[in-house]
Amino acid sequence: MKYCCLLFFLLVAGLQLPSFRAQAGGLKTSFYKKTCPKAEQIIQDIVWKHAATNPELAAKFLRMFFHDCFVRGCDASILINSTPKSTAEKDAVPNLSLAGFDVIDEVKAAVEKACPGVVSCADIVALAARDSVSFQFNEPIWEVKTGRRDGRISLQSEALANIPSPFSNFTTLVNAFSAKTLSVQDLVVLSGGHTIGVGHCNLFSNRLYNFTGKGDADPSLNSTYAAFLRTKCKNLSDNTTTVPLDPGSGTTTTFDSHYYVNLKQHKGLFQSDAALLTNSRASNLVDKLVDFKNFLNAFRSSITRMGGIQVLTGTQGEIRKKCSVING
Ligand code: HEM
Ligand SMILES: *[C@@H]1O[C@H](CO)[C@@H](O)[C@H](O)[C@H]1NC(C)=O
Ligand SMILES: *[C@@H]1O[C@H](CO)[C@@H](O)[C@H](O)[C@H]1NC(C)=O
Ligand SMILES: *[C@@H]1O[C@H](CO)[C@@H](O)[C@H](O)[C@H]1NC(C)=O
Ligand SMILES: *[C@@H]1O[C@H](CO)[C@@H](O)[C@H](O)[C@H]1NC(C)=O
Ligand SMILES: *[C@@H]1O[C@H](CO)[C@@H](O)[C@H](O)[C@H]1NC(C)=O
Ligand SMILES: *[C@@H]1O[C@H](CO)[C@@H](O)[C@H](O)[C@H]1NC(C)=O
Repeated sequence: MKYCCLLFFLLVAGLQLPSFRAQAGGLKTSFYKKTCPKAEQIIQDIVWKHAATNPELAAKFLRMFFHDCFVRGCDASILINSTPKSTAEKDAVPNLSLAGFDVIDEVKAAVEKACPGVVSCADIVALAARDSVSFQFNEPIWEVKTGRRDGRISLQSEALANIPSPFSNFTTLVNAFSAKTLSVQDLVVLSGGHTIGVGHCNLFSNRLYNFTGKGDADPSLNSTYAAFLRTKCKNLSDNTTTVPLDPGSGTTTTFDSHYYVNLKQHKGLFQSDAALLTNSRASNLVDKLVDFKNFLNAFRSSITRMGGIQVLTGTQGEIRKKCSVING
C-alpha cells in the first residue's frame, strides 16, 4: 500500500514539476533578443494570419515539429527538398499530409528581410508549432527556448527508421521515444498531440476489417466506434478518406485533453494510440491527463524536451538562407 502511494506521489509530482526534467540542450529564452528582437513577433503574426483562415495549420505544424525532432534532432531537416542525388525526409512514406511548407517559407522570407542570416529554420518550426496551436487561446500556451541551428542532411531512410508507425505496439513506441531520450511519460503526454488533426483510413483500417487475417475487427477497438469508422472507411486500401483523430471534442482543431477521454472509451484511432492502455503505468497517466490542467502542464514539459532533441547550437550547423535548401 505504501509503495502504491509513493508511486502515485511520484506520478503527480512528475506531472506538476515540469522544469524538474525539462532539458533543452543549450537553448535559451529569447535567444534573438539582441540579434533580431522582432523575430518572434514576426513569426507569430504570420502564423496567426494563416491560422485564422486555415484552422488545420496547427495540426500540420505540430506534426511537422514532431517529425523534424525525431529525425537528426530539431534541425529543420524536415524542410529540405530532395535533390537528384538524395531523397529527403519530406518524401518518406510517413509524410502523408505533412503540409504548411509554404507558410514556413513566407515566415522565413519575412525574418530574413528583418535580420538576414540570423534566425534558423529549426527555431521557426518550433515557434510555428507553438504559435499555430496557441492561436485558439489567443496567447502562447508554452514557452519555446531558441538558438537551434539548421542541419545540412535530410534522408528519407532516416525518417523511416525513426518515426514510429501507427501500427506500433507499446514496446516499440517506448523504444522509439527512449532512443530520443524521451520517457514513457513523454510518450503518453505527446501522444495527446492527437487531440487535433486527422488520419487516413488505410493507417487503421486493418483494425476494422482484417485484424488477424480472419476478416475480423480489433477487439480492443470500441465496437460502436468501429461500426462508425466502417461507414467512413470502406476498404483496407482507402488512402484518401480522413477521419478526426479526436472525435467528439469540439472540432478537429480544438486543442484539449479529450484525446484521453476517447482513449479510455477504447476509441484511440491508431494501434499506437490504443497501445497506451496496454501498460499499467501509461494507463495510469492517461487517467491523470484527462484533466486539462494536468495535460497542459505535462505537455509544456514534454514538448520542451522534444524541442531539445539533439539540437545543433553555437557554431554547429548553419543558418539556412532558404528553409528548403541547404546553403551552397
Ligand atoms: C507516438 C507515436 C506517434 C505515432 C505512431 C503517430 C502517428 C501518426 C499518424 C499515422 C498520423 C496520421 C497521418 C495521416 O494519416 O495523414 C498522425 C497525425 C498527427 N500526429 Fe502523430 N504520431 C505519433 C506521435 C505524435 C506526436 C509526438 C505529435 C506531436 C506532439 C503528433 C502530432 C500529430 C498531429 C497533430 C497529427 C494530425 C496531422 C494532420 O491533421 O494533418 N503525433 N500521427
Ligand atoms: C511525400 O512523398 C512523396 C514521394 O514519396 C512526394 O511525391 C510528396 O510530394 C510528398 N509530400 C509532401 C507534402 O512533401
Ligand atoms: C511489438 O512489436 C515488435 C515489432 O513488430 C515485435 O517484435 C514484438 O514482439 C511486439 N511486442 C509485443 C509485446 O507484442
Ligand atoms: C485478410 O488477411 C488475410 C491474411 O493476411 C489475407 O489472406 C486476406 O486476403 C485479407 N483480406 C482482405 C480483404 O484483404
Ligand atoms: C476503396 O475505397 C476508396 C474510397 O471509397 C475507393 O476509391 C477505392 O476504389 C476502393 N478500393 C477498392 C479496392 O475497393
Ligand atoms: C494510394 O493508393 C493508390 C492505389 O493503391 C496508389 O496508387 C497511390 O500511390 C496511393 N497514394 C498515396 C499517397 O499513398
Ligand atoms: C464505446 O463508446 C461508447 C460511446 O460511444 C461508450 O458509451 C462505451 O462505454 C464505449 N465502450 C467501451 C468498451 O469503452
